[in-house]
Amino acid sequence: MARPLFTLVTAAALALLVVTACTSDNEEDSLPQPTPQPQQCDVSNVTFSKTITPILSANCYTCHSSSFSEGGVVLDTHAGVKKQADNGTLLGVITHASGFPAMPQGAAKLSDCNIARIKKWIEAGAPDN
Ligand code: HEC
Repeated sequence: MARPLFTLVTAAALALLVVTACTSDNEEDSLPQPTPQPQQCDVSNVTFSKTITPILSANCYTCHSSSFSEGGVVLDTHAGVKKQADNGTLLGVITHASGFPAMPQGAAKLSDCNIARIKKWIEAGAPDN
C-alpha cells in the first residue's frame, strides 16, 4: 500500500516542479518591465519659458507679480525669479524646508514633478531660456 502512495507523492512533487519551472520560464520570456514609477516625470528639456513660467503663473502670480508682490517677491520676470533661485529661497519655499515660509501660501504644495523640474532648472543656473 505504501508504494502507490509514494508514487503519487513523487508524481505530485514532479508536477509541482514542472509548474514552478514553467512559471519562471514565463517570467524570463516576458518583456522587461519598466521600473515602476508612481507617475512619469519628464525633467528633460526644462526651460524657463516653457516649463517654469507656466508653473509659477498657475501657482504664484496672484501674490508675486510685478504689479502686486507679496514680500517684495516678483515672480513674473526672469530677473525676479532668478534672484530667489540663486539665493536658495525659491527651492526652500516650494519644498517647505524649515526656515522658509511654505509656498504657495495657503494652497497645496506643488507636485513632486513640478518641484523636480524647478530644482533641475535652478541646478542648471536658472537660465533665461
Ligand atoms: C496667497 C498668496 C501667495 C501665493 C499664492 C504665493 N505666495 Fe509666496 N509669499 C506670500 C507672502 C505673503 C510672502 C511674504 C510673507 C512671508 O514671508 O511669509 C511670500 C513670500 C515668498 C518668498 C520670499 C520668502 C523669503 O523668506 O524671503 C518667496 C521666494 C515666495 N513667496 C515664493 C512663492 C512661490 C514660488 C509661489 C508659488 C509656488 C508663491 N510664493 C505663492 C504669499 C503668497
